[in-house]
Amino acid sequence: MKISVPDHIRSLKPYVAGKPLEELEREYGITDAVKLASNENPLGPSPMAVKAVQDSLETMHRYPNGGSYELIGRLSNRLKLNRENIVLGNGSDDIIALLAQVLLQAGDEAILPRPSFLFYDIVIRGCGAIPVGVPLKSHSTDLDGMLARISSKTRLIFVNNPHNPTGSLISRESLETFIAALPTNIVLAIDEAYFEFVKDRGCPASIDYLQSDKIVVGLRTFSKAYGLAGLRVGYGLMPSFLADLLNRVRQPFNVNSLALAGAIAALEDENFLTETVALVHDELAFLYRGLDDLAVEYLESQANFCLIRVAKNADEVFEDLLKQGVIVRSMTSYGYPDCIRVNVGRRHENVRLLEALKVVLK
Ligand SMILES: Cc1ncc(COP(=O)(O)O)c(C=O)c1O
Repeated sequence: MKISVPDHIRSLKPYVAGKPLEELEREYGITDAVKLASNENPLGPSPMAVKAVQDSLETMHRYPNGGSYELIGRLSNRLKLNRENIVLGNGSDDIIALLAQVLLQAGDEAILPRPSFLFYDIVIRGCGAIPVGVPLKSHSTDLDGMLARISSKTRLIFVNNPHNPTGSLISRESLETFIAALPTNIVLAIDEAYFEFVKDRGCPASIDYLQSDKIVVGLRTFSKAYGLAGLRVGYGLMPSFLADLLNRVRQPFNVNSLALAGAIAALEDENFLTETVALVHDELAFLYRGLDDLAVEYLESQANFCLIRVAKNADEVFEDLLKQGVIVRSMTSYGYPDCIRVNVGRRHENVRLLEALKVVLK
């Protein structure tokens, strides 16, 4: 059947997610595979969130309105922001897509670091807009380079702090200089998906710039440090006029009732969050020691993952590691054909990774 589809949709390449464990186990007949490919929480979900989701099963015939009200209220208390500054999403992916939908028209430009999280590119192109990729400088976001690429067509800028996939940070000083130099008609989205893992006390938080005279948006998620990637809950922090626009186009019930119940409980489970962050820091250090022993290069990371230079074809290393029952992410699609990205697992998973790397890179 011939239907008319815009070229900018037809030419999109779908987002490729990390390979699921079950798929690997099915394909290779393995039973104890380890997945370190999607920057998920090594501890699993918060037990309090699991209980809350179980408790809310009985009311899943209801639309989820009340839960959104409550979660926004809790976030508003915690972050000391008005409710009107918070938009909930089906993962922070949802907010990323909503920002593009609200701000971008065909021919507009949006600036992003290259490489960075692949979904930015998809949503920009999906609006018929033009992604303007600015190469990293010494593995970090090049804010001066981004300023230099601003044109009369620029509407939106994405940065991620910490940066995916390098784990690098934008310093407070450089972010403030950047924001000061931004025109007032451009929206800066600071994606803080890995913010909770940051060790560096000097790391700036998007929330500190929401009241500035520039339009700054913060993106946060329950998928990583809160362990709820499968439930899909994220949120955006932004000026109320922009939140109002996102609320006009978002699906009325974009976050489901189980996800809301889980997120409300996870937010209260401070022990789980502390345990998660401590484990990630300890295990990153363990991974660095193991990689040093193998004489394999890596970038020290402020997130829960680490970019490793395998100095070989990353797609082949990915396949070889699969055969060892370890799923990582080849960084070829990110423009690093000799690197893989792994997220920190529990100790036995990290040991498996190091043993498998030893075999594969020998
Ligand atoms: C930088 C970055 N932003 C956003 C996301 C999406 O997170 P969510 O699960 O909240 O949609 C990811 C997921 O990997 C990410 O790495």
